[in-house]
Amino acid sequence: MLIASLKPRTMGGTTNTGLLAYALARAGHAVACYDADESLQLSAWARDAGDFPCEVHEADTPAFAETVYPTMDHGRINVVDAGHAENHPDVVDSVLEVADLAIVTLSPTQPDYERLTRPERGTPLAKVIKRSAALRDSGQPPTTVVLLNRCQAEAASPKKYADLLTGGGKDGTEPAWTVLSTRIPRREAIASAVGFPCDKPERKAPYDALITELTQRGHLPTVR
Ligand SMILES: Nc1ncnc2c1ncn2[C@@H]1O[C@H](COP(=O)(O)OP(=O)(O)O)[C@@H](O)[C@H]1O
Ligand SMILES: [Mg+2]
Repeated sequence: MLIASLKPRTMGGTTNTGLLAYALARAGHAVACYDADESLQLSAWARDAGDFPCEVHEADTPAFAETVYPTMDHGRINVVDAGHAENHPDVVDSVLEVADLAIVTLSPTQPDYERLTRPERGTPLAKVIKRSAALRDSGQPPTTVVLLNRCQAEAASPKKYADLLTGGGKDGTEPAWTVLSTRIPRREAIASAVGFPCDKPERKAPYDALITELTQRGHLPTVR
């Protein structure tokens, strides 16, 4: 299968992609990563950290569906870090053409919520995901979930933005999103993860919870 890690702008997407792959591997899944962000930070992380869980293939191309996807081992869980949708909509379009599951990383703040739902320029990500249906074999967009990250313990903001997202905005007229109950906390050890070893308790526990939730929701295959 193919999981696409998406975000409209910088949100913690690469961090979440790498630590998700790490958790998947520790849960017993065969995993591979694809770096479809021109910054190639996921690739650099795998090169620099001795315990990065899998190979990262460079894949920052708008021909992702045609040239990268056919080369994958589809018996594994393949995870692609899709870069910033605002800047690279062509790459994101191609990833969405073939992804089985899209995980949108979002921080629960007003500017990040606005960038997801009502960007000043560019196409809202909900529309980008919806229109991908036209190019997919199933005729349906990929299953999509929002993962709130950089969540401050005890703060009201995660629930506030989760409610806005699931309810389709203040008046219910905007696209409604499925928001995972797993929340990635705001933590220094997670902030400094990219490029460094994965094996720290703070870099594991929230992502183990993420895998438990994705498995319970039926989004992940059983371990072979
Ligand atoms: N859980 C977290 N807590 C605190 N800071 C975080 C967390 N996750 C990511 N960050 C910080 O957010 C910024 C963006 O992270 P990164 O993974 O590079 O995002 P993206 O790939 O979306 O651009 C970085 O400065 C990183 O340190
Ligand atoms: Mg990144």
